[in-house]
Amino acid sequence: MTLLEVTGLSKSYGKQRSVDNISFVIEAGQCVALLGPNGAGKTTTLRMLAGLLPPSAGQISFNGSLPGTDYRKELGYLPQSPAMYRWMSGLEYVVFAAKLSGIPSREAAKVSAAALERVGLAAAGRRRIGGYSGGMKQRLGLAQALVHRPKLLLLDEPVSALDPIGRREVMELLREIRGETTVIFSTHVLHDAEEICDNVILMNQGTIAVQGELSELRQQYSLPVIRLSVETGSAAAGWLESLALKPFIQASQISGGKAVFNVADVALARRAILQEAVGLNIPLLHFEAGSSTLEDLFMKVVGS
Ligand SMILES: Nc1ncnc2c1ncn2[C@@H]1O[C@H](COP(=O)(O)OP(=O)(O)OP(=O)(O)O)[C@@H](O)[C@H]1O
Ligand SMILES: [Mg+2]
Repeated sequence: MTLLEVTGLSKSYGKQRSVDNISFVIEAGQCVALLGPNGAGKTTTLRMLAGLLPPSAGQISFNGSLPGTDYRKELGYLPQSPAMYRWMSGLEYVVFAAKLSGIPSREAAKVSAAALERVGLAAAGRRRIGGYSGGMKQRLGLAQALVHRPKLLLLDEPVSALDPIGRREVMELLREIRGETTVIFSTHVLHDAEEICDNVILMNQGTIAVQGELSELRQQYSLPVIRLSVETGSAAAGWLESLALKPFIQASQISGGKAVFNVADVALARRAILQEAVGLNIPLLHFEAGSSTLEDLFMKVVGS
């Protein structure tokens, strides 16, 4: 069942198009990673989906309703840098959010305690937010976003600002939550997307570069490649550049002494490259013949 249908969504600031005509469909129960480098348009997209930012163009249809219908009550939203009152206790903060979403006072206290329990903050609920760690604040943000049992959870970079331990805690929690509701979460780390999500929307410069199921994309973009690295020095770096021009190399990405070459025939390319390396006495550090990965695709999209 389709939960969200986005068509031709755009946001411009003056001449700059922060989000440029993007379209996608999200099915109920999916976990979708909105992946992209800094400035790709992730936050702008999520803020439009959350009803916080009016689109310049395009339509959003939620749960089959007519575009323009207010669906904010069905949403949970965790901003990239949530503003929290440091003097409030964690429980007060979640109760406050619950009431804002229209839950009556008595029930708000009950569901807020349950939400805190859910994110592992039951014991810390009465402590002031000012004394929380980054990981605790992020989990509190999740409790706030979950408290009214939304149909769709929008999480803007929920783990990017955390240390490895906080990150691990929140990732574990997301893994559980993804089974309970539909989730869209943004990240600039492909690995995070692969860890929890089945689907990905890769944005770059306001547009969608690639979207689909991760397993399908992995297959589709699994092309023969040769990876090389050489000691950084003028001769070796120049050699990599010269290889890129060879007829058996179809495409190349070279930076900092490392190269990824797309090739049609791995055996032929391997022979030719190794022969040259030996002949020219190139200081090779690494040579690998294999298949391209999503990481290669990501780097190619982001680098262009
Ligand atoms: N209020 C604004 N006024 C002008 N430009 C804006 C505004 N908000 C965002 N932009 C621009 O829109 C583009 C997309 O920004 P956005 O914050 O959506 O990117 P992002 O993918 O969330 O990046 P990050 O990974 O850094 O959070 C950027 O170039 C940004 O400078
Ligand atoms: Mg952002």
